[in-house]
Amino acid sequence: MTATLIDGKATAAALRAEMAARVAELTAKGLRPPGLAVVLVGEDPASQVYVASKARQTVEIGMRSFEHKLGAGTPEAELLALIARLNADPAVDGILVQLPLPKHIDADKVIEAIAPEKDVDGFHPVNAGRLATGGRGFVPCTPRGSLRLIKSVRQDLAGLHAVVVGRSNIVGKPMALLLLGESCTVTIAHSKTRDLPAVCRDADILVAAVGRPKLLGAEHVKPGAIVIDVGINRVTDPATGKGKLVGDVDFDAAKAVAGAITPVPGGVGPMTIACLLENTLDSYLIRSGLR
Ligand code: GUN
Repeated sequence: MTATLIDGKATAAALRAEMAARVAELTAKGLRPPGLAVVLVGEDPASQVYVASKARQTVEIGMRSFEHKLGAGTPEAELLALIARLNADPAVDGILVQLPLPKHIDADKVIEAIAPEKDVDGFHPVNAGRLATGGRGFVPCTPRGSLRLIKSVRQDLAGLHAVVVGRSNIVGKPMALLLLGESCTVTIAHSKTRDLPAVCRDADILVAAVGRPKLLGAEHVKPGAIVIDVGINRVTDPATGKGKLVGDVDFDAAKAVAGAITPVPGGVGPMTIACLLENTLDSYLIRSGLR
């Protein structure tokens, strides 16, 4: 058997097209466009690529992008002052501070300085708490995109066993809470889990979010399972000596067993930015009294 490929690139493009149409409708009525501010501190190459993609896709769907690039040595107080200005700026609906931050800056303090109603990353403790208690709030983009991909192959997830491998605040924990909200029976596995293959093999839905290249193979996958690979790992291809991206799942091995699987690249990755724009549009609609 070969698994159905879950095409995140196409799903994300469709979602962006829907949002572009919605933004065009709003601006045609004379309303201001939604605005997203992205803050980058330092010159981390991967972060520079992500931030450039975010800005480009924001503008492509008709929203305003406000980019703030600060030097690696920027004092924490200066970053906090910028966030205070963005919090107060009525043209800004969403604020994203790209992580990781340089070591001299306290990331928790920075995240807590973002107004929760503009925290489109969903990282502020108020939004994390709202997700945990089932209330309205911003859901982190990668789990939100991953759930959408799961639901593109199966609508009703009630009673299914979901195993999330990874317990980060950005992906693992919010992913587990979203699946719980769908009435799944949820297990969070991590580096200390005993007999990881056996735990994973019991999963109807398997989400890998650990950042370890090809950690999960065929022996981790239940026949017919939905496999979502959140990993984006840069490795050197021994055949060509060139760099390439691989997931946390050994795709070729797992696809022979799974029912449906996301590729890397072209799976979860493109959904993350699409869901960031979705959170920004949601923020705009709420802040404008349109929802
Ligand atoms: N760095 C890696 N992923 C993310 C993300 O989703 N949001 C932010 N702000 N930084 C990141």
